[in-house]
Amino acid sequence: MTSTRGLEGVVATQSSISSIIDDTLTYVGYNIDDLADNASFEEVIYLLWHKRLPKEDELAELKQQLSDNMSLPQEFLNHFKTYPIDKVHPMSALRSAVSLLGLYDEKSEDMSDEANYAKAINLQAKIATIVTAFARVRKGLEPVAPRADLGYAANFLYMLSGKEPEEIEIEAFDKALVLHADHELNASTFTARVCVATLSDMYSGITSAIGALKGPLHGGANEQVMKMLAEIGSEENAEAYIQEKLANREKIMGFGHRVYRQGDPRAKHLREMSKQLTKLRGEEKWYNMSIRVEAAFTAQKNLPPNVDFYSASVYHSLGIDHDLFTPIFAVSRVSGWIAHILEQYENNRLIRPRAEYTGPGMQKYIPIEER
Ligand code: ACO
Repeated sequence: MTSTRGLEGVVATQSSISSIIDDTLTYVGYNIDDLADNASFEEVIYLLWHKRLPKEDELAELKQQLSDNMSLPQEFLNHFKTYPIDKVHPMSALRSAVSLLGLYDEKSEDMSDEANYAKAINLQAKIATIVTAFARVRKGLEPVAPRADLGYAANFLYMLSGKEPEEIEIEAFDKALVLHADHELNASTFTARVCVATLSDMYSGITSAIGALKGPLHGGANEQVMKMLAEIGSEENAEAYIQEKLANREKIMGFGHRVYRQGDPRAKHLREMSKQLTKLRGEEKWYNMSIRVEAAFTAQKNLPPNVDFYSASVYHSLGIDHDLFTPIFAVSRVSGWIAHILEQYENNRLIRPRAEYTGPGMQKYIPIEER
């Protein structure tokens, strides 16, 4: 038995949700470029869950269901006040809160299709409210209730700031949600599938996936990118900073990918958004610095930027706290996780691979007093 480090190149399941073939990403056969330019996040949710684009009335129904389920009961919100709120990372808070959400769903253990669809709506709707409410409560502010007249992206920004967002902000945020929604068998999606393949419930699957997304080699990279840009401080410092990091054999966050070789197709959309939004804010330095970092890094290593690199300056330009970048990734990716969980349930088999044993050979037990 031989193992493959990090399961590289291993095809672990079949899926008809998203594909990466020759560096092209598709959701259910639709090119990500096409979806980023034309589809709303709600349309993408429908596409991932039903494996087809919605008709107008179907989209309206989904929007209504999400809107109807966004509010969190006061009793639930009170839990945030019991967290060591000034010390916890919002991803840890989100992981706990999503687990808690399962406790409030009396049908969490009901595995019928109907109950699972209701859980999907509940999770997708409330994750936005959880992230924004936590972000406010930790600053001593009251949570802002969702508004029925706003779409998903607009509601998120509204619940975060308490102000109605501008159209350009809504469009940018909506596009970012579309771009992050699904990505074949990435680490967090695989985690979700492994969890529910034991026939565990959807809340357990999503809680596990949030834990996997949190790490800096996966979704946690976007926050680290912003930290790096802040450390670099100005455009002129970019080259020297990158050279020093590479000389110390440190990784540069936001570059490289296990699957893409020529480049991550999502990055160009975020690069363009970064350009526009930093200009709008009069803070072009973040975009200019990012461009200089990309040039300096790719001159040394043939590893193009991934989805996390330019999303950092995009979210920063939307006025979002840096430690909320990864929770926002989860707000979008929960749509993909749910699609994969539903697909796993449809044709389930326990996921249980083997390990290549590298420990000592057969030993004889020695009583403790003789060791
Ligand atoms: N900076 C510097 N060197 C890098 C980077 C990087 N960002 N990425 C890969 N390398 C180098 C490694 O040091 C290694 O070099 P070596 O062979 O000389 O030791 C080689 O490229 C292969 O790297 P691995 O880490 O083995 O590649 P793997 O396929 O396992 O990892 C990963 C992919 C985790 C994305 C990696 O490129 C990385 O750590 N990038 C930075 C973190 C990041 O941006 N993560 C987000 C990924 S996208 C997402 O999950 C949403």
